[in-house]
Amino acid sequence: MTAFSRFTPLVSALPSTVPFVGPEAIERQRGLVVKARIGANENGFGPAPSVLAAMREQGGEIWKYADPENYDLKAALAAHLGTGAANIAIGGGVDELLGQIVRMVIEPGAPVVTSLGGYPTFNFHVAGFGGRLVTVPYAQDREDLNGLLDAVKRENAPLVYFANPDNPMGSWWDAESVIAFARALPETTLLVLDEAYCETAPADSLPSIASLIDLPNVIRTRTFSKAYGLAGARVGYAISTPGTAIAFDKIRNHFGMNRLAVAAALAALKDQAYLAEVVGNIHAARERISAIARSNGLQALPSATNFVAIDAGRDGVYARAIVDGLMQHGVFIRMPGVAPLNRCIRVSVGQAADMDLFEAALPQVLKSIG
Ligand SMILES: Cc1ncc(COP(=O)(O)O)c(C=O)c1O
Repeated sequence: MTAFSRFTPLVSALPSTVPFVGPEAIERQRGLVVKARIGANENGFGPAPSVLAAMREQGGEIWKYADPENYDLKAALAAHLGTGAANIAIGGGVDELLGQIVRMVIEPGAPVVTSLGGYPTFNFHVAGFGGRLVTVPYAQDREDLNGLLDAVKRENAPLVYFANPDNPMGSWWDAESVIAFARALPETTLLVLDEAYCETAPADSLPSIASLIDLPNVIRTRTFSKAYGLAGARVGYAISTPGTAIAFDKIRNHFGMNRLAVAAALAALKDQAYLAEVVGNIHAARERISAIARSNGLQALPSATNFVAIDAGRDGVYARAIVDGLMQHGVFIRMPGVAPLNRCIRVSVGQAADMDLFEAALPQVLKSIG
């Protein structure tokens, strides 16, 4: 294929890749239909009726750009979190914010510390800005805080990524350990504390906002994609000191937010009763996934997220056979990418009908692959 000849050396050297093979692509490639969409850590319970109403109401206003300062959403989040609006930056999902953070900190060749098998989109952005990934293996299926700290110091890394709770294992650390980790980092290392799953996590796993808000080298990222059920809307936010938060204004796409999505986020934040109901549904669905695993002789790992990692008991080839076999039944799930995490399959929560399909298909698949 002939490409433009003056892409930067960095871009020329990068592979053109879609880090996640989506369910739509699987349908196209394999000629199958997804009946249970429980692989992408979306929230099948969906957004609140009040959110859908707010989006409908905004529909006629779509000819307008959204407020480039995101004033209302910042104010609402600040009130919700007990911070100032100046502590908040808004972006098109955590994924976009991660790209902006990497861009602000990483020059080609700079070391970036993360966990081996951790959230791949972060790695994608690091590659895109020419950073050098330094990976630390998980320990007992959790991100290894001591290992991450050692790697940061050894490499003099300007950036470290840590998700609490974590994807793909669903594991988490207690708040005290997270605070100790953040405070032990050199001031010259920026911590991305990705809290995409904070709403579904045990309360004692989340550092209070106040406990880290004074640290200019900590950015906490959160999203409306998970518990709020708005993955397709693309709204995320970052929490940090005002000085760090305002740096996003140097590089962000000021008209990047979708007006309907901002209206949806505002309405979602207002409807905390619905959020509580959905979080209850997510907890129940986690239990159901674990029970299905157990009744098939597999062990589900504890989860603080909207998905459950299930130890399939063998290697990555076996886990892949389960993932592919389930898709043959229309059940879309995913699995971690690297050993030893890839002995697991990863099942997102869904409605009862989705769980029923998973429950029916799993024993058939296990039997067929032997
Ligand atoms: C740890 C983690 N961070 C971020 C995201 C993406 O969030 P968003 O939809 O806000 O980009 C995900 C989604 O799976 C995730 O697991």
